[in-house]
Amino acid sequence: MFWSILLSIFAGAIALAYYFSTCNFDYWKKKNVPYVKPVPLLGNYGSLFLQRKHFNHTAHDIYKEFPNEPVVGAFMGTVPTLVVKDPEYIKKVTTKDFYYYNSRGMSDYADHEAINKNIFSSHGDYWKTLRTNLSPVFSTSKMKNMFHLIADCSYAFEKLIDEEASATNSVMPAHQLISRFTMACITSAAFGVDSETMGKGYKTNPFTRAGEMVFNKSRKNTFKNYFRMTWPGIFYLLRLKAFPEPLIHMFHDFMTSVFEARNHKPTSRNDFVDFILGFKEKEFITGETLSSPTSPIKRTSVEVSDDFLVSNCLIFFLAGFETSATTSSYTLYELAKHPEAQNKLLKEIDDYLERTGNKIHYESTAELPYLQACVDEALRLYPVLGVSTREVVEEVTLGSVRLDKGVLIHIPTYSLQRDPKYFPEPEKYRPERFLGEEKQKIVPHTYMPFGDGPRLCIGMRFARMQMTAGLVTLLKKYRVELAPGTPTVPDWDPLTALLPSPKKPLNLKFIVREGWENRVFVKPENRTSCKA
Ligand code: HEM
Repeated sequence: MFWSILLSIFAGAIALAYYFSTCNFDYWKKKNVPYVKPVPLLGNYGSLFLQRKHFNHTAHDIYKEFPNEPVVGAFMGTVPTLVVKDPEYIKKVTTKDFYYYNSRGMSDYADHEAINKNIFSSHGDYWKTLRTNLSPVFSTSKMKNMFHLIADCSYAFEKLIDEEASATNSVMPAHQLISRFTMACITSAAFGVDSETMGKGYKTNPFTRAGEMVFNKSRKNTFKNYFRMTWPGIFYLLRLKAFPEPLIHMFHDFMTSVFEARNHKPTSRNDFVDFILGFKEKEFITGETLSSPTSPIKRTSVEVSDDFLVSNCLIFFLAGFETSATTSSYTLYELAKHPEAQNKLLKEIDDYLERTGNKIHYESTAELPYLQACVDEALRLYPVLGVSTREVVEEVTLGSVRLDKGVLIHIPTYSLQRDPKYFPEPEKYRPERFLGEEKQKIVPHTYMPFGDGPRLCIGMRFARMQMTAGLVTLLKKYRVELAPGTPTVPDWDPLTALLPSPKKPLNLKFIVREGWENRVFVKPENRTSCKA
């Protein structure tokens, strides 16, 4: 008797678990949307949760299922997820009907953790007020004024590259080297601090450690990220946190020391911290509501609390260095495989330095078109966010499908950018795609490495500025080749959550170029940052 009761309870529990992990699975069928058959609990993203495939590759499998359909239904875990493939539909989601899709996900859980108060994670009126108030930090004139700080970091980088080349017998993966430079750029330009990540003690440097806590390969972190994205309700019920506590504390203490050094008042530097201190003085920042087409626009405000300050500074630091380091290192990797493209770029850089008398200026981003094309082509093959996410915040119709609140949207940037329909011979690295007439022919909303619409990357200009400076600094003295044993097609590690990190290090050989002595930077006396 006892055993049969126990068995019935057990069978009942399994039946209940099965029911809850599959009860949504007729969602797309009822909506008449072609969909990929899901498996209980994990939906169509099982290989992601089990850490067998990278996010880009998992989404690519879904993308390929119905080649001629504008959208494909899927399930992220148990949540209905629409993979939007058609460029016109993408335009609707990211731009035309932005109001309905203004969240990146987890919109009902915005208040569950202080760190969610940042511009990347927030949505609705809160996000819009933040975006309006932070956008001026990244204007062209601000970038121009800031460029001398990036130039100072480039002079220190010039020295660091030589030191590392001699310490490693000129064979090393470019990523770590460049991330030390980009970390120095963002801490100097945004926080007015010389982080010394290009100095000798970089391994124990708090900024290096902060970066490692988030970006190092880790089964636990990867699982936690996807778990939070898919089942935020259970995630927060279990009192889990998006970022490790020591990281938040470190950033809190760091920002407090920066504010104290400026006497809690904006200075004449006009940098990110000055903006933030300006907000702090006012206690509130104001803006306009994000209104639906039928509701009126109203004024709104956001309280400038300590949590607000720390979460936004942290997100700028994290978004600011790793994305640019990843892109620059893939650019070098592809140049190492394509000597013709590399030669063309070296000539462009040499001519530029001859014209400027070995100085680097803000205008370099515009005056080095082939370098930009090399970066753009690397971003096509290796977008740092291969899948952009959105969430339906209010019922809306896309094409002929009525979507309910809470449906997730996946915009498969990686797949679109490798689709032969939009980019012939997509696996081929060919920077010429991004020059002249060829560039004009790119179908809108098929190339989106910085995203699309009002939530486009706010740091795009800053990223271009630091990537250009870093690549010029390196390539004016060294050419790169693949080191023996380096894979010619990188296999992406499923343990790196979103960024496309290679499984095996992409080692490059740094070869000193002839005539480098004529291209040494002319440095001003009064350098203010990056003295390492
Ligand atoms: C190569 C470098 C970079 C790439 C490829 C990149 C890419 C992206 C992408 C794809 C998005 C999402 C856009 C969307 O959902 O439509 C994004 C958002 C964002 N990025 Fe970047 N990014 C880069 C560098 C930077 C830098 C240097 C910063 C800061 C200094 C930054 C700060 C941000 C922020 C704050 C957001 C959120 C914007 C919002 O939601 O309003 N990014 N970035």
